[in-house]
Amino acid sequence: MEQFIFGIDIGGTSIKCGLFTTDGTLKEKWEIPTDRTDAGANVPADIAKSIEAKCKKLGIEKAQVAGVGLGVPGPVQENGYVSHCPNLGWRDLNVNEVMERFTGVLSVAANDANVAALGEMWKGGGAGVKNLVLVTLGTGVGGGIIVEGKIVAGAFGAGGELGHMVMNPKETVQCGCGGFGHLEQYASATGIVRMAKKRLAETSQASVLRKKEKLSAKDIFDAAKAGDALALSLVEELGEVLARALSHVAAVTDPEVFVIGGGVSRAGEILTKTVERHYNKGIMKALEGKEFRLATLGNDAGIYGCAKLILDRIVK
Ligand code: BGC
Repeated sequence: MEQFIFGIDIGGTSIKCGLFTTDGTLKEKWEIPTDRTDAGANVPADIAKSIEAKCKKLGIEKAQVAGVGLGVPGPVQENGYVSHCPNLGWRDLNVNEVMERFTGVLSVAANDANVAALGEMWKGGGAGVKNLVLVTLGTGVGGGIIVEGKIVAGAFGAGGELGHMVMNPKETVQCGCGGFGHLEQYASATGIVRMAKKRLAETSQASVLRKKEKLSAKDIFDAAKAGDALALSLVEELGEVLARALSHVAAVTDPEVFVIGGGVSRAGEILTKTVERHYNKGIMKALEGKEFRLATLGNDAGIYGCAKLILDRIVK
């Protein structure tokens, strides 16, 4: 009887779902919206319903589902416990237990960016690399640190929380997590838009961005590629702060390669080249010349990693 795995990557706005066979082939993928009302209370049931509907449609029996792997946009302890996930509103929730209750099958949760790093290492740009740091630039900034082929999830699941490195202790605007001056506030999709709005309000510099009604990170990168000076300086700022954060990470783990993923990475080479240029400024010789790659699985890195979480449990 053929066995299947569900890979579920829970984001702040949408939940990316994938159906895999146990040889790691992605059969189908789809998305459902993230219901953040009621502190995210409906999310587990929504996921379970979507899995059930997919099984029904494809004639998959419960006995054929080997498990459900889940990526959560916040720290997750090894047993699936989430103490606080501001991106969803969850508090004091054991995701493994709740999902097993809803689906009746093995459920394993981990941090979304850690899981994306696992996915990239397994099937993406990190294949064959044992020491890698992945940073995801999306609504938030996430990180996945792989040392000698293993994810560094830390004692309480907050290993790799690169988005919450304090880059500017004098910042007066609060981060979504409650802190101040975090990388996520400058280098996420929402962060660069916030910085752009601030600049547009504080200066009278001409820019095509002034004509946009609803500004997005993509608009800023597109304008920068077309030579808009204001947009270019915003991309420089993002590159500079991200490079500084990554240079600190490099001094701790000395990775072979940095991989940049998440929605913002669709900007392409302008992003990797800018970060690389800033990274090498003033860095210690031994840490110089790191390779900066774009995530080759793009936004699917998460669902692949979720499938791998289950495979690692069932294949001994
Ligand atoms: C969270 C991380 C998460 C990232 C991307 C951050 O705000 O703290 O745990 O990986 O967003 O979703």
